[in-house]
Amino acid sequence: MNPERTPLLAANWKQNQVWGDCERFVGSLRKSCPEYFDSTAETQIEIAIFPPFPYIGLLGGLLNEADIYVGAQDVSRFGGGAYTGEVSSKMLADIGCDYVIVGHSERRHVMGESPEATAAKLRFVLEAELIPVLCVGEPLAEREAGKAREYTLAQLDAAKAVLKDYPEESVVVAYEPVWAIGTGRNAEPKDAQEMAQAVRGWMKKALGADAASRNLVLYGGSATPDNITKYLELGEIDGALVGGASLKADSFGAMVKACSSLIPPD
Ligand code: PGA
Repeated sequence: MNPERTPLLAANWKQNQVWGDCERFVGSLRKSCPEYFDSTAETQIEIAIFPPFPYIGLLGGLLNEADIYVGAQDVSRFGGGAYTGEVSSKMLADIGCDYVIVGHSERRHVMGESPEATAAKLRFVLEAELIPVLCVGEPLAEREAGKAREYTLAQLDAAKAVLKDYPEESVVVAYEPVWAIGTGRNAEPKDAQEMAQAVRGWMKKALGADAASRNLVLYGGSATPDNITKYLELGEIDGALVGGASLKADSFGAMVKACSSLIPPD
C-alpha cells in the first residue's frame, strides 16, 4: 500500500447472488461499514462490487447514495451490432457502471478467450471512459516451471498497444495466479509482492513513470479477511479482487475494516 494511491477492494460475485442476496448484502454492509452510506463520513478504501449483468443497474440504484462503485465482470469485444447475447461497453457506461473486469482467468481459461479478444475488450472499455480491471496471472504449470513472471508479463504485452493509446486513463491490473483462484490456496504474500513489482516495472517501461505510480495493482486468489493485510502491508499491492470472500457482507466488510486499519489517521 502506498499513500499516493487509494486502495481498492473489488467484489467479484461471478455467477452468484440473485437479487434477494444482493439486497441482503447491501443491508448487512450498511450495518458493518456505515461510513460508506454516510455522505459526511470519510472512507479510506474504495469499494467496487461486480454483480452479474442483470443486477448492475439495480445495484447501482440501491447504492446511489453510497460511496461504493459498481462494475461489470465482462464486456463484449465488439462495439455493437448483430452479436446475440453480448453487452457493449457503451451500454455498461449507460447504466452507470464505473469499472469492467477484462480478461479474468475464468474468461481466458474456461471460456477460451484469446489475448486478442481481451485486448479488443480493453479498448472498448477505455473508449467508453470506464476503468478496466485487467486480470493477469499464471497457471500452476508455469509457476512450477519458474515461468510465472514471463507468462504474466506476456499477458500484459498483449494489451500494451491498447494501453499505450490511452496514456491518461486509469487502469487497474489484478495479478491473480490461476491456481489460487477459488482454491483456498492463496499465494505467498512475498511472491505476490514480487509479481506486483514486476507488473509495476512493466507499466513503467511500457506506459511511463506517471502511469506506473498512479495505477493500482491488486492481488486476487483466495484473499480472505485473515490474509488480506499481509499483502497490503508489503507496499506494492493496492488492494484485492475478491471472489468467494466477497459473497457475504460479513467477510467482505471484515476485509474493508482490516485494510482501513492499515491506513494511519491524518
Ligand atoms: P477467489 O476469486 O477470491 O474466490 O479466489 C478471485 C477472483 O476470481 O477474482
